[in-house]
Amino acid sequence: QLRWDPTEPLHELPVGQGNWVLLFPTYSIADEFASPLGDNPHSLTTGCYQVTEQGAVIEIAQQEETLSGEGDASPLLLQTLSSATQQQPLKLVVSTAGLGQLGSPAGYQALTGLMLSIAKTVQQSPHVELWLITECATATPNQVAEVRPEQAMVLGFAKNLTLELADKMRSVVDVESWSAQAAKQCTRVISNGLAQPWVLLRQQKLLAPSVVRVTADSLANKNRKLKEDGFYVIAGGTGSLGLSIAEWMVRMGAKHIALLSRSGVKDAAVERVEAMRKLGAQVVVPKVDLTDRAALASVLDSLRKDRPLLGAVHAAGLFELCPVQDLTVDRCQSLMANKVLGMQWLDELTEQDALDFFAGYSSIASVWGSAGNFHYSAANQVVDAIIQRRRQQGKPGISLNWGPWAESGMVTDESGDQAEKRGLLQMDQSVGTQAFGRLLNCDQAQMIVADINWSRFKPLMEITAVGSLLKSVTDPENPADLLNTEVELNPEDIAFKEELAECPEEERAERLLAYLKQQLANALQMMPEELDDTQPLIDMGIDSLLAVEFKNRVTKVTEVELPVVRMLGGANLRDVSQWMAEAYNTQISGDAAPEQDDDALVEGVL
Ligand SMILES: NC(=O)c1ccc[n+]([C@@H]2O[C@H](COP(=O)([O-])OP(=O)(O)OC[C@H]3O[C@@H](n4cnc5c(N)ncnc54)[C@H](OP(=O)(O)O)[C@@H]3O)[C@@H](O)[C@H]2O)c1
Repeated sequence: QLRWDPTEPLHELPVGQGNWVLLFPTYSIADEFASPLGDNPHSLTTGCYQVTEQGAVIEIAQQEETLSGEGDASPLLLQTLSSATQQQPLKLVVSTAGLGQLGSPAGYQALTGLMLSIAKTVQQSPHVELWLITECATATPNQVAEVRPEQAMVLGFAKNLTLELADKMRSVVDVESWSAQAAKQCTRVISNGLAQPWVLLRQQKLLAPSVVRVTADSLANKNRKLKEDGFYVIAGGTGSLGLSIAEWMVRMGAKHIALLSRSGVKDAAVERVEAMRKLGAQVVVPKVDLTDRAALASVLDSLRKDRPLLGAVHAAGLFELCPVQDLTVDRCQSLMANKVLGMQWLDELTEQDALDFFAGYSSIASVWGSAGNFHYSAANQVVDAIIQRRRQQGKPGISLNWGPWAESGMVTDESGDQAEKRGLLQMDQSVGTQAFGRLLNCDQAQMIVADINWSRFKPLMEITAVGSLLKSVTDPENPADLLNTEVELNPEDIAFKEELAECPEEERAERLLAYLKQQLANALQMMPEELDDTQPLIDMGIDSLLAVEFKNRVTKVTEVELPVVRMLGGANLRDVSQWMAEAYNTQISGDAAPEQDDDALVEGVL
């Protein structure tokens, strides 16, 4: 379960020091943010943007630029950031708070283009930290303002960037509604820094996310019985999870089920559909693209002519891994639209139906982000938001942030293996459907359901920028905080520390490689010669405790942060030693740290 706990900015510094570039929907909103900065900034550049049906247009220092429809980096913003970073470091603050309702698919597309351009521009700009301000992207209990899906989309993009541009993406502050007072608080928070990747500003309090474990029994202790006399609609019902839920529905007494998808039942699923029919259920399979509102309306109308609609599940989705720099707006839209638009249409078009439940299939990617999944993280954040908004409107709704399911359409053998190495196990289909049944009965708007090996997953996550989310999760097998293993340096470490400092710069990578190999061999109780330094570290059998111990020791000796994101993302010892040598050399010379290159991604997980 996701919980929001009070938190504070990191420091009490004078507000506004440093260099700032602001990109806000209007100059007057930017001015509200900038006025508490007073005379403190070394430099302050203000720009604004418009999101139009034709795309996004930005204006900075009286120059205007229409962003490329591809979502490429913005030359105007690149130039602004590079001149402002003459005096580093630089805070780029982009706000979608104060942006009106978008209201149309083209508006979503333009906002996606804006965010993708900003991400790519920041990726190419050294010394920049990106801060985002959103408005009501998510709900807390008792919140008055309605959750806004387009703002949720921006929060979802940011969750991915927190992992994928870990050295640049600082934090998101989500305000309940924009006001001069909210502006003042945002200015203070961003000036002082935050330890959390995203926070909510609600009634003058800052709230940080935290995942807590709950038992299913404490939420609801029985499955929901279904009714015989109406239709249950499953959007994406011909997919692997859609079919499992349909079968569960038949077991729970449903007699009429509609499985919606663009291409109907695929070969392997024909038998499963027939088996449901043999059990006495009417299973219809209308072909419809969920992004087409009129077509969806017509399918729902034709079902209603037969009998009432009693429940809806949105289990449609598409998945691909793609680093931010290779994404285009079209690519984002084609992956996201079935959720961003499909959820919206299904919500609107069932408004008059007396539904007993409405479930959205979301993902852990919108809980703690997922690298390589800029678009997928955002699409799922929109699913969460639309469900939260339904609950605010007094309608039934639950968003299920699933972890990987076994034998499902979106998990390949390879991605499943990768996820398992990080502690994300593949959930048995029967466990998933049982959880679904129970959670339909519970009073929550959102639940995370995943089979997790915490002693592996938690330490690995804790060393990423989103680690603070898991601080309250205790590992039932090993409740101690695995990360706080204090490292004692041995004489070998101390000798290496001196050797590294004294050796010629060009030899450091090789010396580091030998040292890292020795350390890893010690940890794995092997000989260094037995280790293949071109094999990905994640495949070398390092469990989480060893990974943490290894990282802590190496960091203490070299005083260079071991790039754990890279370590988990398929890097080998050679890559790591090369990167660390560069970081060490620039640290000594006083230059800025080198940029991480693109294959440093933690592979996305659902
Ligand atoms: N599998 C997992 O482990 C996992 C984990 C976390 C979350 N989830 C979520 O659970 C859901 C189902 O996953 P899955 O593994 O069952 O995926 P899947 O087997 O690939 O099924 C996806 C379904 O969505 C339909 N679909 C896609 N785009 C559509 C559109 N525009 N209009 C209508 N139907 C559309 C597909 O049919 P057509 O292509 O014929 O349209 C298919 O029926 C997804 O939302 C996913 O994000 C899954």
